[in-house]
Amino acid sequence: MGVPHFLVIPYPVQGHVNPLMQFSEALTKHGCKITFVNTEFNHKRAKNSVGGLDNLKEEGMRFVTIPDGLDPEDDRIFVSIKTNMPAFLPKLVQDINALDADNNITCIVATMHMCWALQVAQKLGIKAAFLWTASAASLAALYFIPKLIEDGIIDSEGVQTKKQEIQLSPNMPVMDAEDLPWGGFANKFFPHIVKEMKNLEFGEWWLCNSTSDLEPGAVSISPKFLPIGPLMESDSNKSSFWEEDTTCLTWLDQQPPESVVYVSFGSIAILEPNQFKELALGLDLLKRPFLWVVRPSNDNDKVNKAYPDEFHGSKGKIVNWAPQKKILNHPAIACFISHCGWNSTLEGVCSGTPFLCLPFFSDQFLNRLYICDVWKVGLKFDKDENGLVLKEEIRKKVEQVLENGDIKARSLKLQELLVDKSVKNSESSKNLEKFINWAK
Ligand code: UDX
Repeated sequence: MGVPHFLVIPYPVQGHVNPLMQFSEALTKHGCKITFVNTEFNHKRAKNSVGGLDNLKEEGMRFVTIPDGLDPEDDRIFVSIKTNMPAFLPKLVQDINALDADNNITCIVATMHMCWALQVAQKLGIKAAFLWTASAASLAALYFIPKLIEDGIIDSEGVQTKKQEIQLSPNMPVMDAEDLPWGGFANKFFPHIVKEMKNLEFGEWWLCNSTSDLEPGAVSISPKFLPIGPLMESDSNKSSFWEEDTTCLTWLDQQPPESVVYVSFGSIAILEPNQFKELALGLDLLKRPFLWVVRPSNDNDKVNKAYPDEFHGSKGKIVNWAPQKKILNHPAIACFISHCGWNSTLEGVCSGTPFLCLPFFSDQFLNRLYICDVWKVGLKFDKDENGLVLKEEIRKKVEQVLENGDIKARSLKLQELLVDKSVKNSESSKNLEKFINWAK
């Protein structure tokens, strides 16, 4: 009999591909076999994604592709991907199993918006699990949608109906409606989220990239929640869609310890031109070096690169895409101006770096709440009446966070707690073993 063989399918964005890759690496260390499914579109973008059906007999991790059925210029959001992809999966599973007859697929793992795959698994008689790539608290918020509607706190469109603070469970922090993961979204997505929650039921486990050290209340909401994080298998993001600019590591080597402000907003968020300008000028006001990731891509090229004429940038380095985990663990880094995506949040807390939070959408507001009010390892920016974080506010908050010894001390303490917990007998390691044994 073969080893447990997982077919893993991420929703094709960087914030899902990265944690699923970390998860897959953790499974291969336990002797499992992984077939990692990228869309054809993303396979061409992903660096280091080698493979194809020919390599399926080998041990470890292999990559295969599936068409998303869209034209190159189409908008690749979950609504369209969901329409086109399910038809291709049964044939892919069949082909893999035929080629790998001694080691058929034992379990399918999918991330949010790809849970149609869990339904396919059930039809094919294969086990299925769901990997939630954001915080357990945001999964808890989705889990409680029916109750929030029943209690009259939100309506069936996800809109808050009465002004009141929300506490999802007694051990979770009190939040505002804007902190709910769909709060910042156009509500046209809310029905899709509700539908997806039904698909989640096809997954036996809801694996969370978190631990009870970070979110004690949230991970115990339902026995289905299985915390297996933080997934930090390696210090590189092997599946980057952009080429990492490693010159920033040499540049960091030349900067004084704890001097550099690292600025990055993940793989999706786009700064409005005015906010981009304020940020550029705010960084100029700092009396310290900064490392700023300004992503190149067709959609934000014009917006993001509108540097104001007054911008010098003489103390900074700007790159298209950085080796973020290595950066955050570099001794020259002082703090992290972040959009609070969950991966960046975990990478920041695991490196003991204080945060300055500039959330854009979805779970990022709730992650900010944990960073600033629960773990108290960062500060939030205040916005002006036009919703902008002004350059002076940026300068002031960077100074404040760096002068605050308590924030740094708590960051280091949290880091120590999480890194210590990565040892063999931690809750997450035990849960991962439990999961693998279930999949056998
Ligand atoms: C998305 C959502 O936006 C986020 O809210 C959700 O929590 C996860 O999915 P994204 O916006 O890309 O993710 O942010 P994040 O979760 O932080 O993931 C970005 C990943 O890209 C991180 O693993 C980070 O290390 C990596 N990255 C980012 C780089 O490797 N280099 C960079 O220059 C920037």
